[in-house]
Amino acid sequence: MLKIDKLQAGYGKVEVLHGISVEVPKGKVVTLIGSNGAGKTTTMRAVSGMIAPTSGEITLNGKRIDGLESYHIARLGLAHSPEGRRVFATMSVTDNLRLGAFPRYTGARPKGDVEADLEKAMELFPRLKERRQQLAGTLSGGEQQMLAMARATMLNPEVVLLDEPSMGLAPILVDEVFRIIERLKGQGVTMLLVEQFAAAALAVADYGYVLENGRISLHGPAEKLRTDPAVKAAYLGGGH
Ligand SMILES: Nc1ncnc2c1ncn2[C@@H]1O[C@H](COP(=O)(O)OP(=O)(O)O)[C@@H](O)[C@H]1O
Ligand SMILES: [Mg+2]
Repeated sequence: MLKIDKLQAGYGKVEVLHGISVEVPKGKVVTLIGSNGAGKTTTMRAVSGMIAPTSGEITLNGKRIDGLESYHIARLGLAHSPEGRRVFATMSVTDNLRLGAFPRYTGARPKGDVEADLEKAMELFPRLKERRQQLAGTLSGGEQQMLAMARATMLNPEVVLLDEPSMGLAPILVDEVFRIIERLKGQGVTMLLVEQFAAAALAVADYGYVLENGRISLHGPAEKLRTDPAVKAAYLGGGH
């Protein structure tokens, strides 16, 4: 379980998160909803150690992770599928996936059967299977996004952070991404999900938080947020 308690973080002197608290229980999907610039990506970055929190506590399965280096946090089982297309462009699809499992090769995480998990990932992401030897940089944007998600699962993670997995994708791929999230959920993968399609995110999630200008304004069971008039008006309007 991931627990964020009174987290404050930002960039330089600019504070973006003003003390947010979020819990992601084991086996659950929790979504963070908010407008552009609300601080969703900053939250993800603070959790995975890409930026250092200025205050507050973050724990992963009871262990403090705030202030630790990213590689250390990854070893503890936190996988981050970042916003944008952050894959290793000059490496093949399969090598990107193996890199996701890196801490399992070094003994920092239980090894298990990496090659079997790689095949499982290929089944979950058929588009990657067809392109397994292709260099990641030559994949389409949508395929790169899927590769980033698949790479995150290769850690055999305790918690996965998914930051806008459907960003920039054609509608048919957006549906595919949500189907994959649904299947990962079925496998018991614990996830913190940020999505522009708030209605779809609330449909797959168990619980949701609304982030406004770096503060949690509302939280509750996803089902409840979906029917909340204020949430509907602000985030579920127009075609989402
Ligand atoms: N690298 C950065 N340096 C300075 N400010 C940033 C940086 N990244 C994001 N911000 C600012 O932090 C705020 C929150 O951004 P972000 O967390 O990306 O929002 P969201 O993901 O919810 O759209 C915005 O005002 C944004 O301009
Ligand atoms: Mg963002």
